[in-house]
Amino acid sequence: MSLALGLAAPAKLNLGLRVIGRRPDGYHELETVFCAVELADSVVARRREAPGVALTMTSAVEGGLPVSGGDDNLAVRAARAWLAATGIGGGLDLYLHKRIPAGAGLGGGSADAAAVLVLAQELAGGPLAGGSLSDERLAELACSLGADVPFFLAGPFRGGGRCFARGIGERLWTIPPCPSSELVLVLPPFGTSTPAVFRELGARLIEDATARKVRASQAPTATEIAVIEAGGNDLEEPAMRCTPELAALRGRIVGTGPGGVEGSGIHGIKLSGSGSTLFVAHEHAAAADSAARSIRAALTMPPPFHSVRVVRTRTLERALVARPVPWSSDAASPSVSGEDFLGLST
Ligand code: C5P
Repeated sequence: MSLALGLAAPAKLNLGLRVIGRRPDGYHELETVFCAVELADSVVARRREAPGVALTMTSAVEGGLPVSGGDDNLAVRAARAWLAATGIGGGLDLYLHKRIPAGAGLGGGSADAAAVLVLAQELAGGPLAGGSLSDERLAELACSLGADVPFFLAGPFRGGGRCFARGIGERLWTIPPCPSSELVLVLPPFGTSTPAVFRELGARLIEDATARKVRASQAPTATEIAVIEAGGNDLEEPAMRCTPELAALRGRIVGTGPGGVEGSGIHGIKLSGSGSTLFVAHEHAAAADSAARSIRAALTMPPPFHSVRVVRTRTLERALVARPVPWSSDAASPSVSGEDFLGLST
């Protein structure tokens, strides 16, 4: 049995998100506060002699966009990119148990990719060992895989659950835990398309690349963090325009849509990233419990809302570390149950 290491790959929320402008390459520059959440996929990796990457995937997810188990899966792309960048011999076997829906604005694919990078580094003997990558090279690789991947490396896998981000999400500062740690996630059975939402936003192109660069290197002030966190999400209205079912769902929850529930008392519901997850954050568990009850009551109406999942969870405040996992050499997946894996199974 070769060494297999497992890691919980948590979801993220964008507690607030402002779009600053559009870069010449089409990516958008943002200011956002990321936080990790106690809803996580499980990722296990082991090295093998045969080159290439083999993925075995199981899923507990209902709804969201389908997740590919093939070469375009972001965890597989991360493993391939890491093997190519290190030039290390052999390949990687991966096992992925999904709990985070795709196309949900929760960064599930990005978390899996970042977890693979961390596990591959550990399996190669840690960041200082020959055969693994430097932290700088790893951060570059993460960014090349997707704009949300760097957050997971700098945040939950480094013990910091919350980060302020600039650039396209790759300039990160760890910030203290948030008092509003009690969460209600509203997970629709459908996903949204991130590129379509950004296209719909149609942000103006910022021509002044120098000014943008200066801003991108400035550490955020406490006021700036508070403003972004308390503010809205610039992608929310474009996401609503792209996905009318989402607008209808929000309307039902806040009580303004057709069939809305008067006085459901839910204020401050926000979209995470480009959607489709809506969430509410409270300081006290009782307030979040009550919000979850009100939302569930608002959704126990005729279709299309009966299959929306309302999940009561909290922000992730502890460091996630890789642990050895039993995986016999001739088995396609490790001998752990996805449900009890690493204690993160909301
Ligand atoms: O990097 P990621 O794969 O998550 O991004 C998906 C798409 O979303 C990009 O191809 C781009 O169209 C858009 N995007 C953007 N600006 C960002 C992040 C994503 O325009 N900061």
